[in-house]
Amino acid sequence: MSVEPRSPKVRHMRIVHLSDIHAGSQYFVPNMLNRALVEVNDLAPDLVVVTGDLTNMGFRQEYREAKEYLDRLQCPLTMVVPGNHDSRNVGYMHFETLFERRDSVIRTGGCTVVGVDSTEPDLDNGRIGRHRYPWIRDALMEQPGDFKIFALHHHLLPIPGTGRERNVVHDAGDVLEVLVGCGVDLVLSGHKHVPYAWRLENMFIVNTGTVSTLRLRGTTKPCYNVIDIEGERVTVTRRYPFHGGEVVVEFDAAASTYIRHDAHLDRVISDL
Ligand SMILES: [Fe+2]
Ligand SMILES: [Fe+2]
Repeated sequence: MSVEPRSPKVRHMRIVHLSDIHAGSQYFVPNMLNRALVEVNDLAPDLVVVTGDLTNMGFRQEYREAKEYLDRLQCPLTMVVPGNHDSRNVGYMHFETLFERRDSVIRTGGCTVVGVDSTEPDLDNGRIGRHRYPWIRDALMEQPGDFKIFALHHHLLPIPGTGRERNVVHDAGDVLEVLVGCGVDLVLSGHKHVPYAWRLENMFIVNTGTVSTLRLRGTTKPCYNVIDIEGERVTVTRRYPFHGGEVVVEFDAAASTYIRHDAHLDRVISDL
């Protein structure tokens, strides 16, 4: 599929990307989430995207707790997709009760954001599924000149420092082809609590860590991302609750130029 060159648009969007709250986990730190929510409200984003693992076991009381926190967001738009922990114990029923849709689309300010459920009940593995590709394509291409964002819980590319690789969706190759074919600019995901950023073709794939737990691998810290979009210019800032933040990626979606601030990507692999 060829993607039409898009006309320059006036875009001013601030998106906050949170993931892996894990309410109910013994590693959940309420104070961390309290602080993050205060910071996010101060940042006054146009949209907050939450890429799953709101809960630990998909139980109703965990969902209620996570929802009570998210209800404190003073943001006009929120998109939430489920994670593998949320689909345990038929937890996707509670997700639908509280958030209605497991797949959703938000179009605002010259941006199209498509969020999908990549989970399978009671499995930690992820999958999108071929039967959903037409819907994803249609959702992404309805406004072809938009800046396009795709959000899911699982990874589309392996991420360093996450141990044995079991976290990429089973149909990642096909999904990547769909997304690149639609001219997606940015993919947001979570899952293994390791923040990272890859570039593939003209698309940045940016993973965030857990915002509010101490289920941490290596030296990673709880964090969330802030994405500022000005026209075609994009800046991704990783923020740590209580501890400020740093720019990790800057790119120009039209000119295909970018800076990946490798010094700020956590060094998780030691040289042999
Ligand atoms: Fe998680
Ligand atoms: Fe997960």
